[in-house]
Amino acid sequence: MIEIKNLHKSFGDLTVLNGASIKVEDGQSLVVMGKSGQGKSVLLKLITRLLHPDSGHIYIDGDDLSTLNQKELEKCRLKFGMLFQSAALFDSLNIYDNVGIGIKAYNRYSESEIATITKESLERVGLVDVGTKFPSQLSGGMRKRVGLARVVAMKPKYILYDEPTTGLDPVTSAQIAMLIKEMQDDLNVTSIIVTHDIPTGFFLADKIVLLDDGNFSFVGSVEEMRKSDLKSVQDFISGYKEEADIKFR
Ligand SMILES: Nc1ncnc2c1ncn2[C@@H]1O[C@H](COP(=O)(O)OP(=O)(O)OP(=O)(O)O)[C@@H](O)[C@H]1O
Ligand SMILES: [Mg+2]
Repeated sequence: MIEIKNLHKSFGDLTVLNGASIKVEDGQSLVVMGKSGQGKSVLLKLITRLLHPDSGHIYIDGDDLSTLNQKELEKCRLKFGMLFQSAALFDSLNIYDNVGIGIKAYNRYSESEIATITKESLERVGLVDVGTKFPSQLSGGMRKRVGLARVVAMKPKYILYDEPTTGLDPVTSAQIAMLIKEMQDDLNVTSIIVTHDIPTGFFLADKIVLLDDGNFSFVGSVEEMRKSDLKSVQDFISGYKEEADIKFR
């Protein structure tokens, strides 16, 4: 379980998080929505300790991150896989090596085990016969899949997704969302999915939160969000519709 309690984070004068609290139960998928610049990526970075909060606590399976020493923190990090917005592939490595690099660094598997896990992970995301290609030869959607395969190869308990479908066309977005859903069901991972894509968010969420002005102004189910007349929810949804309208023009 991931538990966030009263989290504060500022950069200079800019307050990004101002007392946010939320719980993610094992097996659950939490979708974090919010306008650009509200601190969604910062939240993920705080959870993986790439950033430190000014105050407040993050508990991972009951362990308070702020009390862990370096070794314990490294162990805790192994529970996490993160799919970055850009997919973060290494341009100079072929697809096999991009997927295998995480488990290789792990130093636990033999070469042949690494090859097997890499192949299985690529198959899981529907990619075969691309192992010897390089990232520049793949489409945006395929690169996201490779990023996902790398995450899956590590067999994490938690997967954090930062805008997994942003920048993809609607059909490819839906395919990626479907893949994420399949993985949640098959591998029983617990996920936090940051997205401002409403269809993707609604499709994947067990629980949705809306990050607004440093806090979760809405916490609830998809149905509750659909029906909500909270101003922050309405503003977010109408902003999304306007953006979609612009794209169609
Ligand atoms: N390391 C940093 N130093 C200073 N300011 C930062 C840093 N990281 C983020 N910020 C600021 O914190 C705010 C929240 O950033 P964040 O990237 O979390 O937004 P976001 O909700 O993920 O937005 P988007 O939807 O555009 O990705 C922004 O104003 C950003 O400029
Ligand atoms: Mg972001």
